[in-house]
Amino acid sequence: MRNRSFDLKNLTLAIALVAAGVMAFFSMFVAAAPVDEELIIDGEFNMITRTASPEGHPLSEVTSGWLYRTDETRDQQADSFENPGMLAVEEGEVFWNTVDGSAGKSCASCHDDAATSMKGVGAKYPVWDVASSKPINIEQRINLCRIDNMGAQAWEFDEQGQKPLAAYIKNQSLGLPVSMKLDEGDMQKWWEKGKETYYSRMGQLDFSCANCHEQYNGSYIRADHLSQGNANGFPTFRQKQGTLVSLHSRFQGCIRDTRAEIPEAFSDDMMALEVYVTWRGTGLSVETPAVRQ
Ligand code: HEC
Ligand code: HEC
Repeated sequence: MRNRSFDLKNLTLAIALVAAGVMAFFSMFVAAAPVDEELIIDGEFNMITRTASPEGHPLSEVTSGWLYRTDETRDQQADSFENPGMLAVEEGEVFWNTVDGSAGKSCASCHDDAATSMKGVGAKYPVWDVASSKPINIEQRINLCRIDNMGAQAWEFDEQGQKPLAAYIKNQSLGLPVSMKLDEGDMQKWWEKGKETYYSRMGQLDFSCANCHEQYNGSYIRADHLSQGNANGFPTFRQKQGTLVSLHSRFQGCIRDTRAEIPEAFSDDMMALEVYVTWRGTGLSVETPAVRQ
């Protein structure tokens, strides 16, 4: 009798454990709607954080990652004095004005005041580059000007002034809607290549970008509230890293989480993904530097 009750206890325990396991699995994906709040930076700049999707988009509404973050994180982004990413933007301004290279020029020597010359630029990138017959992003455009127009060396991925200067340039488009041109050069082909990657299952987890950011968008994966994974806030200040994070570094992080092989920054695979992912956020305001956890 004693033995049987012991078995019964064990059986109950086993059932309880299995049930807990199943619940833990599903609680990985507990759904919660993004908040219904407005992002107004410094009480002045109204950000578009929700908008109707462009034609051909799988979801009806495009939403900013800001809507999925905690109250504290959202507040931090709404106040540029509280936003730690703004320090990097200021650092970017210093790079903008610093002479470098054999031509003895700074960015400002040719482009003057970034508030005028760079306004809207961050909202339309990546763009088609005729010379290389490929799409380029802001980071690559900076390098082209450094090489061709300054006689300076290209910056390595995420090194030197790359992140702060990219953030400074994008910040000049704060609030403007993301609006890429897919009808230039072969942009459409790159878009399609990026889309293919986006829907391909990868790594040991066998997850695609779309599994997390489309199918489970709005669900929790551990402590993370899954957003649509849009690119409109990059480079972004990440609290976890305590620093500015570039878009390709974020892509690499997401790919690393699936335990798949990680493509190099600025490789064709990454550029195609940038074209496609940026397009998915069409109509959202540029939020650079966004604050995320
Ligand atoms: C000697 C002049 C010169 C200097 C210095 C220079 N640029 Fe340029 N930049 C240009 C010219 C000219 C263009 C137009 C496009 C081209 O060269 O193909 C351009 C284009 C750009 C664009 C693309 C604008 C658009 O609408 O797509 C960006 C962004 C840019 N430059 C940023 C920079 C930055 C950042 C620096 C400093 C690191 C810099 N430039 C230094 C001359 C310069
Ligand atoms: C296993 C789930 C998972 C997969 C697969 C995944 N991501 Fe993510 N991703 C996350 C999480 C978690 C975050 C942080 C919370 C959020 O914004 O969704 C995130 C954030 C992002 C962000 C930042 C969004 C913002 O507002 O700052 C981008 C961009 C992104 N992912 C792109 C991608 C791309 C592209 C792929 C495919 C190569 C991908 N992700 C695959 C889980 C995933």
